[in-house]
Amino acid sequence: MKGHELRAHPDRIRWNERYAADQPCFTPHPLLAEALSAGFPAGPVLELACGRSGSALALAARRRTVVAVDVSDLALTQLAGEADRRGLRGYLECVEADVPSYDPGRRRFGLVLATLYWDPAAFRAGCEAVLPGGLIGWEALAADEPRQWRVSHGELGAGLPADFEVLTEALVISGRRRSTRLLARRRHDPSRTNSASNG
Ligand SMILES: C[S@@+](CC[C@H](N)C(=O)[O-])C[C@H]1O[C@@H](n2cnc3c(N)ncnc32)[C@H](O)[C@@H]1O
Repeated sequence: MKGHELRAHPDRIRWNERYAADQPCFTPHPLLAEALSAGFPAGPVLELACGRSGSALALAARRRTVVAVDVSDLALTQLAGEADRRGLRGYLECVEADVPSYDPGRRRFGLVLATLYWDPAAFRAGCEAVLPGGLIGWEALAADEPRQWRVSHGELGAGLPADFEVLTEALVISGRRRSTRLLARRRHDPSRTNSASNG
């Protein structure tokens, strides 16, 4: 997607307005704690639709490089500013992009994370970008009926490629918000040689 198309992207306009209206809190998402306790391979982490991600900052504090992708340039500016203040900017690669069409190329990641975001093409591409032995952590708003930006509980696990196993899949209820939270691991497959860059 070209720069002028990105600038006019309705998601960018909508989210920039929201991010301009309140202060960031930079709290890591609980899925990050689950991923850290499950363990994942060395190498960079990819966070899709990261917003003002406290998870990215917490990973950077652990000296993990994070590729942080979002369509909101304001969110990325606020995130980068906080990383600067914490002396962590060198661990953060901010990418302004439309996630459904974002292509990480041949890069592969120990953890691919997306929270409170849903797009089926991005989920498929996110799975593909996980290193063997690595994790995908995804949380999306849940609905019983098909609705834009929402999935039914169980849909994430059911949509995983065959070489993934579900570690946890939980329905999370917080006030009026229902979301579905998945952590899954890509199996090691010695018959697949991984020639992709790891850095
Ligand atoms: C509900 S917020 C979640 C932010 C963060 N992941 C969290 O858990 O707090 C949704 C995020 O998705 C981003 N987003 C929405 N549409 C997008 C798109 N088409 N491409 C990239 N990011 C998008 C927004 O800018 C926003 O940061």
